[in-house]
Amino acid sequence: MFRITTAAAFAALTLPTAAAEHACTVEGDHWDLDEAGIAALYDCMSERMLAGYSSGDDPLAGEYRGWVQAGTRPAVAGPHGERFLLTFANEIAAEQYLAYEEGDFEMPVGSVLAKESIAIRDGTARVGPLFYMTKVDDAPEFDNWFYSGVMPNGKPLNASQAFCHDCHRNFDASDSMGYPVPEVRVGG
Ligand code: HEC
Repeated sequence: MFRITTAAAFAALTLPTAAAEHACTVEGDHWDLDEAGIAALYDCMSERMLAGYSSGDDPLAGEYRGWVQAGTRPAVAGPHGERFLLTFANEIAAEQYLAYEEGDFEMPVGSVLAKESIAIRDGTARVGPLFYMTKVDDAPEFDNWFYSGVMPNGKPLNASQAFCHDCHRNFDASDSMGYPVPEVRVGG
């Protein structure tokens, strides 16, 4: 009897990790992954990111993959939790965003930037949040950016405008945008 219970409990426990059979894993330090390794990682994670982000009712989650991809591949940039990041720009944003301008300019209202993230923990890749920045005309205290996002389970990310902008405001020469790391910039 005890055994059966244990087995049942074990089965229940392992259910969520059944997917672990198909886990996307990274060997060694993920900072050292080469381009082929990163491409393989993205291949493995791509569908599950999209499935997760669009499993709720976020209106952009099913759309952003059709926007202009601003990175040739995901890349690690320290700040966003040491995750692999890949940014997409909507039609209104694309031309200006892909110029990676530094200077006195402002993104057009209606620009949306969406950034996917993949976190690596103990050698296993997990879907991280999808981050958004939207250019608005009524948030001067945040340089007219609205920060939001979607969790891997499709629920809205509870973004504090002050938290996000306190870091983004440091990019004051590029309208508060951090841009992908130079080596992966499309058109840059
Ligand atoms: C500690 C600093 C920091 C914080 C906090 C931060 N970001 Fe960022 N963010 C960056 C950096 C650096 C980049 C550019 C790196 C990259 O995309 O490879 C970036 C890029 C982005 C981009 C892509 C557009 C761009 O700036 O080039 C989006 C969208 C974004 N962040 C959203 C958010 C949201 C939403 C929050 C709050 C939940 C947030 N960020 C908090 C540092 C930060």
